[in-house]
Amino acid sequence: MSEKAKKFVIKEATRKRCKIIKADEKTLKRFMPVCLELFPYLKEAERIDFSLFFRNGDEIIEFIKPNELSCELLEQMWAASLKPAALVEICLLRSEYKKFEAIINSVRSKKIKAVLEKDRTLDPQVTEVYSTLSSASQMIVRGGITNHVANQAIAAAASLMSSQIDSEVAVGTLSRMINCDSTLYDHSASVAMLAAIIASSFLPQPLHKQECEVVAQCGLYHDAGKSCIANHILNKPGIFTPEEFEVMKTHTQHGFDELTKAIGRGAPIHELSARVALEHHERFTGKGYPHGRKGRLEEDENGIHLYTRIVSIADVYSALLMKRVYKDALTSDEAIKLMKKVADNDFDPIIFDPFYDHVMSSIALYEKKEAALEENFGSVRMIGKTDSFSKALREVKQDKNKVS
Ligand SMILES: [Fe+2]
Ligand SMILES: [Fe+2]
Repeated sequence: MSEKAKKFVIKEATRKRCKIIKADEKTLKRFMPVCLELFPYLKEAERIDFSLFFRNGDEIIEFIKPNELSCELLEQMWAASLKPAALVEICLLRSEYKKFEAIINSVRSKKIKAVLEKDRTLDPQVTEVYSTLSSASQMIVRGGITNHVANQAIAAAASLMSSQIDSEVAVGTLSRMINCDSTLYDHSASVAMLAAIIASSFLPQPLHKQECEVVAQCGLYHDAGKSCIANHILNKPGIFTPEEFEVMKTHTQHGFDELTKAIGRGAPIHELSARVALEHHERFTGKGYPHGRKGRLEEDENGIHLYTRIVSIADVYSALLMKRVYKDALTSDEAIKLMKKVADNDFDPIIFDPFYDHVMSSIALYEKKEAALEENFGSVRMIGKTDSFSKALREVKQDKNKVS
């Protein structure tokens, strides 16, 4: 607990309306945090059959009961979790996690159905595999990497590799999905899918299926440490202060520590997942963090592991496609061209160059698909070209202090 952290003041009206529980250690064990990336899904749920709680210091407040779900109360919860220096955490009872998972999965299914109807160039098999990965990624929450979570990550990675999806179709579908519905995008799920595609298709010596599954798991876990970063920093609108950026950077070490602890407890997680979580912000010429590693581990003991060099490319591409509180989403064309500009410093050319070519050819493929559909069915175009590219480039040049 940070010394600066202080208790958020709960309004009297809330105290009257809500049940409040004293949070001793035993009680706290009954609760688990909600995956914040998926919190907005709840706005699209018609109802919930579980309660949502705030943890506020040593109190737990039952803020939304099953029959009380409303956008207004969800907004209030979200706003409270963004208060600087407050110990507010959104959580639910562990015993009700399955109900939460079912609601999130049903909202995701509805969203996927809607994007498939909206953009007919998208591939249903890719969205199905993506959905399985996203289900696994939503489980990776604060202190929550249990055997159950790890087994779900293993199963999702295995289903990805056995699906034999075409890599161009997968890259194209993933890249375009976000233009249809930005809230559907799950960063870790997309990193897992892209990293596995790179590992299986774009290396001079493609990895075997089982190795690709490990790479996919590394993608799912790469930002596990973000669950240790307070929401007011993680989702801060605008640029970080230098101090906040230092806090953000610790997600690499937190990820390593959390995964190492889980492995120590016997969770079936490959030890390379911890290494990749630690190294995924290292950059090829040594300008990254936390340790300024550079080059290839195969050639130098201070180098970066192959799996990390793969995941870091998938990570940056996915992050650029996402709309974040501090930046607009880029189209795939804008994202890959922006990466090309920094590639000499940031990425292993042996991996990046074929990835670049592949994304470009997948963009061309999807333009053809779109044109064919337009010819047959009338206009299907839904991707708005934005002027976000130049804005993002300015931001990258001005400061590299955002964390993917
Ligand atoms: Fe990261
Ligand atoms: Fe990331």
